Amino acid sequence: MTVVDDVKARLDIVEVISQRVPLQRSGNSYKANCPFHQEKTPSFHVFPDRQSWRCFGSCATGGDVLSFVMRADSLEFGEALRQMAQQTGITLPQRGQSTQNEGAHKINEDTRAFFQRTLATAQGASAREYLEQRGLDKQAIEAFGVGLSPSDGESLKNHLVREGYSQEELASAGVVRTGDDGVNHDLFRGRLMFPIRDAHGNLVGFGARTLDGSEPKYLNSPQGPLFDKSRLLYAMDRARTDVRKEGAVIVEGYMDAIAAHQAGFKNVVAQMGTALTEFQVDEIRRLTGKMTMALDQDAAGQAATLRSLDVVLGNFQTKTTNNPGPDGATKTVDADPRIIVMPPGQDPDEVIHRSPSDWSKLVESAIPAISFRINAITSQGETESPEGKARCVAEAAPFIHLLGGGIQQANAVELLAGNLNVPIDTVKAALSRPSVARRARRPDQPRPAGTTASPFAKLDHDPMEEHCLQLLLGYPELRDLAGGLRSEFFQRHENREIFTRWLDAGPGLDKDGTLASVKRDGDDEVSGQLTSLLEKPLLPLDVNGRTASFMEVASRLEERNLKNLKSEEVKRFADSPPDIDGGEHDEILQLNRQIRKNEGLRRGQAQEISG
Ligand code: CTP
Ligand code: MN
Repeated sequence: MTVVDDVKARLDIVEVISQRVPLQRSGNSYKANCPFHQEKTPSFHVFPDRQSWRCFGSCATGGDVLSFVMRADSLEFGEALRQMAQQTGITLPQRGQSTQNEGAHKINEDTRAFFQRTLATAQGASAREYLEQRGLDKQAIEAFGVGLSPSDGESLKNHLVREGYSQEELASAGVVRTGDDGVNHDLFRGRLMFPIRDAHGNLVGFGARTLDGSEPKYLNSPQGPLFDKSRLLYAMDRARTDVRKEGAVIVEGYMDAIAAHQAGFKNVVAQMGTALTEFQVDEIRRLTGKMTMALDQDAAGQAATLRSLDVVLGNFQTKTTNNPGPDGATKTVDADPRIIVMPPGQDPDEVIHRSPSDWSKLVESAIPAISFRINAITSQGETESPEGKARCVAEAAPFIHLLGGGIQQANAVELLAGNLNVPIDTVKAALSRPSVARRARRPDQPRPAGTTASPFAKLDHDPMEEHCLQLLLGYPELRDLAGGLRSEFFQRHENREIFTRWLDAGPGLDKDGTLASVKRDGDDEVSGQLTSLLEKPLLPLDVNGRTASFMEVASRLEERNLKNLKSEEVKRFADSPPDIDGGEHDEILQLNRQIRKNEGLRRGQAQEISG
């Protein structure tokens, strides 16, 4: 039995959930108004025999006791596990990598001090001039620890070696790079150095801007367990208090964030040059219900930006924030994500330096993210024909349903109806049709952390999930085929966590890079599982073999998920017939059809491959 199983075995899901949500008995299960969206009739069910929960309403999610605690208390998996372990009196094994990390943090601190000293020397004259010309004052440069890396490629290494660090330590901290000659050299040369800290202030890496126009414009510390772009928000360590008070403002660049802080806008953080991830969104949501994203005009309509926005809408919009007030009591804050589209050709850095009050006005005039998203759907789709209008409604439906029943939703419906030039009631009717209303999330849609359809895994391990992960980790090209795979198909937490990390690593990395990103500092539970997956020999398969094997296992995982969903639906139907209307019978039929289709597809595939 793994620690996770052990912790779960000692918890009763009904007891844990009823500490947070008033449950009502209903046959063999319990029900309540869903704590994750607003509703008037209870569609949130808890199944004691399966130790699982599910919202049959607009969230359409569910899971086990840990995924409930993750969502309800806004915790990451490791934190939820720790908290629950504490309740059951189980001592978790210590985090293995923390001492190694401390070493790396210390190397980074020495490196930062070295770069700051370099900036102050004669070597730094033109860099200082550049900073002045960019409008950064002495205090801001000092506060953000901005420095300069020497251009000879050896000075930092020599300095750190004199300080007593080994080559291995320098390499694992990511400040040197092994050259073709097999010798370590400084990774950063002649660049403006921005130290990057995690939310707790640990120095985890650097962003390095070119000063002579060489490419890339920014060179960042290597992605890995220590420096993980998908989890970092630049300046969060300094912005925390003000984010809590005033909400977060998210800009794109390091320079933008520094300019904002210098001008007294201390609730500003910067993205790390990648799309926002659910980790980053969750981090903000734990502090505030208000987040405003500044989008570059050129980027605003682009697919990557819209995806980033979907992560925000999927993870931020739906959940209210439990925010400890000054008296320590929790207060509930409505989620209010907003968008600023920057005026053409301008970025926050320029606007702030030119006129801080213009920046304030821009922030105040930000529009609700949902409005921006609806406008993107209707301006990119075809809105003349009835079919086109229906497609737009269907595309907007998941976002609108996530809003619950309040004024925000009413406004969104009105906007959509206006854009499509149809009466509001027509849109409302279309939205409440079961096929649209309960439409499962598309696979390409983000899914909030920890939302799973995980009834209990009885085994200590799950061969199907492991096989799937082994293939994904072993054969990077399978990523192209993995679009339909969702984290909720993985029932075992450690596997789901590995899959989520693999997903976050994104398509840009090679095999080793992906592995490094998946391996980052985490729970022993996860690293242990990862080690065992990597140690298990992978059948040597040719390209066709891999593809077939992957398609097979992916469709089986999906099918298992559908069957679980179905059995929960059936159970609910048995427990509380009065709640069920015709539309929900349809849902069960729909699931049946989907399962059959899936089986059919797989048989077809098997024939194709064997024949
Ligand atoms: N970025 C990156 N790698 C690049 C380019 C950009 O990591 N090759 C990230 C950095 O975090 C950067 C952000 O994307 O801060 C925004 O990029 P950009 O707007 O080009 O940079 P600024 O910080 O605004 O820099 P500057 O104003 O000096 O051009
Ligand atoms: Mn800029």
